[in-house]
Amino acid sequence: MEIIIQPDSRHASAVAAKIVANLVREKPHAVLGFATGQTPLEMYRVLVEMHHKEGLDFSQNTAFNLDEYVGLPPGHPGSYHSYMREHLFRHINIPASRVNIPDGRAADIPACCLDYEERIHTAGGIDIQILGIGTDGHLGFNEPTSSLASRTRIKTLTAGTRRDNAALFGGEDNVPHHVITMGLGTIMDCRVCLLLAFGKKKAQAVAAAVEGPLTAMIPASVLQMHPRAIFVLDEDAASHLTRADYYKWVYENKPDWQKY
Ligand code: GLP
Repeated sequence: MEIIIQPDSRHASAVAAKIVANLVREKPHAVLGFATGQTPLEMYRVLVEMHHKEGLDFSQNTAFNLDEYVGLPPGHPGSYHSYMREHLFRHINIPASRVNIPDGRAADIPACCLDYEERIHTAGGIDIQILGIGTDGHLGFNEPTSSLASRTRIKTLTAGTRRDNAALFGGEDNVPHHVITMGLGTIMDCRVCLLLAFGKKKAQAVAAAVEGPLTAMIPASVLQMHPRAIFVLDEDAASHLTRADYYKWVYENKPDWQKY
């Protein structure tokens, strides 16, 4: 695992955006995996700025999102379709035909999940998957005790996750109970996993994922088994790590050819 600790979320988001932009430039057909939540917003803002100011070109990319709520009407402000349109897709030149987000309104959810897995496979697999982390250590919507080998499927949210995501629903009671999410096995198949975490409220989950035991109780700990997992953190999110000084030294002393 590579642990990058930056002074604040703005610097961390800039590093993350650079990692994504480097890939898009090196591999114009790259398949990009996107995440939602508050955490990646600044990184998306920087990518949009790079598109406008530097001509960062997304015209040949394919996108897959991690997850979506079940049953929300189109255009609901809490849906991840709305989020992605609002914060990224309408500002860049990725073709709508190559944007994939699980269909939370599908009549046949198991068939829709199977089809999502097949679409990822047909696209050649995901080159980089952006990830946040839940306060309980979840990835996507893979709540604690999710199978570490799970594939895209329906999941039931915990009370804590529904509370954490209540802001766009006008209260916790309105947050759906069910979601479709890529599984942990699906995420592990991505070539690079780029996890962002900011703020004190993520510190415990980050420390458990990076330095704790591999366990389905902390789904993000599965990334310990991933050959290219990069965590980009601010000081607060890194504050429970016991080896923070070591991670900082490693990052600051990377050989030039390894730098982002
Ligand atoms: C939700 C999303 C996750 C996200 C998490 C954290 O559960 N499904 O993908 O990582 O929220 O969100 P935030 O970044 O707002 O803390």
